[in-house]
Amino acid sequence: MSTIYRNSPLPRYYQLKEIMRERIRTGEWKPGDLIPSERELGEMYGISRMTARQAITDLVNEGLFYREQGKGTFVSRHKVTQQLIRLTGFTEDIRARGQRPSAKVLSARMRAADETLAERLRIKPGQLVFCLQRLRMADEDPLAIELSQLYFPGCEKLLEEDLEQNSLYRLLESKYGLPPVEAEQELEAGLAGTEDAQLLKISTGSSVLFIRRTTYTDRNQPIEYAKSVYCGNKYTFYTHLKREQLLP
Ligand code: GLP
Repeated sequence: MSTIYRNSPLPRYYQLKEIMRERIRTGEWKPGDLIPSERELGEMYGISRMTARQAITDLVNEGLFYREQGKGTFVSRHKVTQQLIRLTGFTEDIRARGQRPSAKVLSARMRAADETLAERLRIKPGQLVFCLQRLRMADEDPLAIELSQLYFPGCEKLLEEDLEQNSLYRLLESKYGLPPVEAEQELEAGLAGTEDAQLLKISTGSSVLFIRRTTYTDRNQPIEYAKSVYCGNKYTFYTHLKREQLLP
């Protein structure tokens, strides 16, 4: 992404943030570099200074940039490595492994949030959330069962989407203007119950990984709380770790 699209459902400041993140990811902007001013960014991308300011302020708040009084805004030295931990959806993960992702919708419905779910999604108990349960496959081989529970105003429109053919994350980003930008995730080892085992075509009691994820859109707003069961022997989680400071 290197241009700002006027017709995109994504707000312009968000598009600019993504462009700047990309500059850091690719190494074009290095830690300590001075980034262009609001005015320069405005001219480069044909947007207002206000929009450029909003994008910069967000990245300052996220720790990717820091400001120096009278000097300008610079790329931070720490935190940048954290960008190596990318937030991806199932479709992207499987494609990255060179396989073909697919999905079978087991159920899709609106349901009243209980207290726990309401707390995760920061909504009131009883509010209606969209619940989607899918069996996820890689090259037709069952890999995971995912229960995605989403809330945003108008989330019931998701009932009309084809979530066997489309990636949920992609839809949220391109059609609803709600890009998933951050997530908290927990992994826990466990054993497959009878029902999960049948769907995943493994024996009851085989090792599985339980994954719980809260996904946030920009502005720190949770949109999804997902619970998944992955076949333990078919999935590897990769994390790139980097020591921030060497001990003396
Ligand atoms: C992952 C996450 C889920 C998320 C899904 C979206 O597997 N654990 O929380 O709902 O990806 O995948 P896709 O965009 O392929 O529908």
